[in-house]
Amino acid sequence: MSRSACDAAAIPLVDLKAQYLDIKQEIDRAIAEVVSSQYFVLGPVVKRFEEEFAAYSGVAHCVALQSGTAAVWLMLQALGIKPGDEVVTTPITFFATVEGILLCGAQPVFADVDERTLNLDPGQVEAALTRRTKAILPVHLYGQPADMDALRGIARGRGLFLLEDAAQAAGATYQGRKAGGLGSAAAASFYPGKNLGAYGDAGAVLTDDAGLAETLRMLRDHGGRKKNHHDILGSNARMDAVQGAVLSVKLKHLDRWNAARRAHAEAYRQALAGAPGLGFVEERPDCRSNFHLFVVRHPRRDGLLEALRAEGIQADIHYPICCHLQPACGAGRRPAGSFPAAEKAVREIVSLPMYAELSGEQRARVVRTVRRFCRA
Ligand SMILES: Cc1ncc(COP(=O)(O)O)c(C=O)c1O
Repeated sequence: MSRSACDAAAIPLVDLKAQYLDIKQEIDRAIAEVVSSQYFVLGPVVKRFEEEFAAYSGVAHCVALQSGTAAVWLMLQALGIKPGDEVVTTPITFFATVEGILLCGAQPVFADVDERTLNLDPGQVEAALTRRTKAILPVHLYGQPADMDALRGIARGRGLFLLEDAAQAAGATYQGRKAGGLGSAAAASFYPGKNLGAYGDAGAVLTDDAGLAETLRMLRDHGGRKKNHHDILGSNARMDAVQGAVLSVKLKHLDRWNAARRAHAEAYRQALAGAPGLGFVEERPDCRSNFHLFVVRHPRRDGLLEALRAEGIQADIHYPICCHLQPACGAGRRPAGSFPAAEKAVREIVSLPMYAELSGEQRARVVRTVRRFCRA
């Protein structure tokens, strides 16, 4: 670490402590209420959050689950995705998207991304379809919704499910509509570092389909509608009441926090414009990203990351390895070179610190470090 890094406090990628201090009283009270009630799993507090988040997302049903990973998996399982089926998705995502497909015994089939947005390229999706394709599962990467109209056109013509991995996209919009309400069903994650983050693992599925929601309620709770009755094979994927309580408090602040993130993104863009070699992930005019992550690109990415870290700036890479190259991908594995836009992107991307409480001074330090590196 350089001398200036020792002098100045580190800048985290995301500062959850600062957020907690901002809403401490509300959070402490909500958690204390759960402890007093001694009702720790599902129950009225989780039900209230389900209603609030469904209304916020513009859908009829929210089924609260134990994680976003469970949400992807159980959403696919509840739709009947099974061995022999194929689900088309993106090579640039957190691996949980792919795990959900594999855990159903189905085959992930990858399609390349649009190099401007790093979201699924609809033309490539079309080319990846086979007669075994059952669903298209776009990921709203870094908080920007995928090109849902184009994907809907492809899905509708062939009777495929159009789903959403909305894990990173709480509060983002596409043509004025909230992510999570743009397909047949959506998986949400409330992992602590997400824009709407719990105080532990938590997730949900959003849908307008009452039957699907009912199946998911059974799957999350040992396959039954009432205690000691197990109609289908389920498991334990229920949300804890503490998480529901925290999420209800935080949901009230989400739009304010997302607006602050957008302002930081705009300031970063303006201050970094023209830095030699630096590229950005483009925001489509019909999308409002929630800037879960603010990602820049540079051909000398590893050097840029090193320069940032030397200054105590905790930049990171989301994600350094494409999913189709992961050993756990099984038969979905494809050789290097299969998806050139995605593979080039993962060599160039860096996520800069991004959270609502980021100060102007912290942002300026990040900008100075990036610009200095780009000039060298
Ligand atoms: C795109 C995407 N899908 C799925 C998940 C899984 O969510 P969780 O960590 O809550 O299991 C994540 C979380 O990191 C994610 O970013």
